Amino acid sequence: MKKIVPILLILAAVLVLGCAQQQAQEEQKIKLVEKGVLTVGSDIAYPPFEYTDEKTGKYTGFDIDLMTEIAKRLGLEVKFVNTAWDGIIPGLQAHKYDVICSAMTITEERKKQVDFSDPYFEAKQVILTRADDKSINSAQDLAGKVVAVQQGTTGDFAAQRLIDEKGIKIVEIKRFEGTPEALMAVQKGDADAAIIDNFVAYLAVKENPKVYRVVEDPAFPPEYYGIAVNKDNPELLKAINQALKEIKEDGTYDKIYKKWFGE
Ligand code: ARG
Repeated sequence: MKKIVPILLILAAVLVLGCAQQQAQEEQKIKLVEKGVLTVGSDIAYPPFEYTDEKTGKYTGFDIDLMTEIAKRLGLEVKFVNTAWDGIIPGLQAHKYDVICSAMTITEERKKQVDFSDPYFEAKQVILTRADDKSINSAQDLAGKVVAVQQGTTGDFAAQRLIDEKGIKIVEIKRFEGTPEALMAVQKGDADAAIIDNFVAYLAVKENPKVYRVVEDPAFPPEYYGIAVNKDNPELLKAINQALKEIKEDGTYDKIYKKWFGE
């Protein structure tokens, strides 16, 4: 008995050390653009997911809070790089940042270029039209209309599908570099409607109820946002999924969700 106890202690110590070493090695395999920092690419003109707070001049939003929390769990600082949507994936591939978190929908096309984390948010496309324009009440009603989208978004692809697959005769899809420009086009009457992510549209209506109105249509399927990671960085993807899982399990996700979307 006297001999067994020290042996067990040694065994336990070896085990603990071994685990710690393995963890350190795994962490080392994570490639980062800047040591000790999780650098995040995002098109930061997309409230409530990512935008600049007018008062403080700081980046804020659901994605900003989520990535700040994920970085914290990985023991990293977080840095956001404001990036135009057009070119946001090439920027990741060129290692300008480690991940993309930008309300980016997981799609089969994008999966060919990047890896995605587990989904962190469910969304869908909606039609945003002017409050005083009663002529649009479904996707079908976009026949004969001009539709604004942010170029290269799922709203853009959805508009094109309405034409190609449903035969809806949209007159023109006006493609803008950013979502704010697409919303402005609707407000000014340069477009009759925009097709955009639902929560971005809901916020626009909440802030400008006299300007905008939302039209929902079952033609638009559910979409899921994911954090994009380079294909050569599976250890980072793993670590992010682990952090995401913990954040969901311990109530932190719900807290962030409530802060931005209420109950
Ligand atoms: N969810 C849409 C997509 O993935 C739009 C995302 C646009 N994000 C942004 N920050 N502008 O295509």
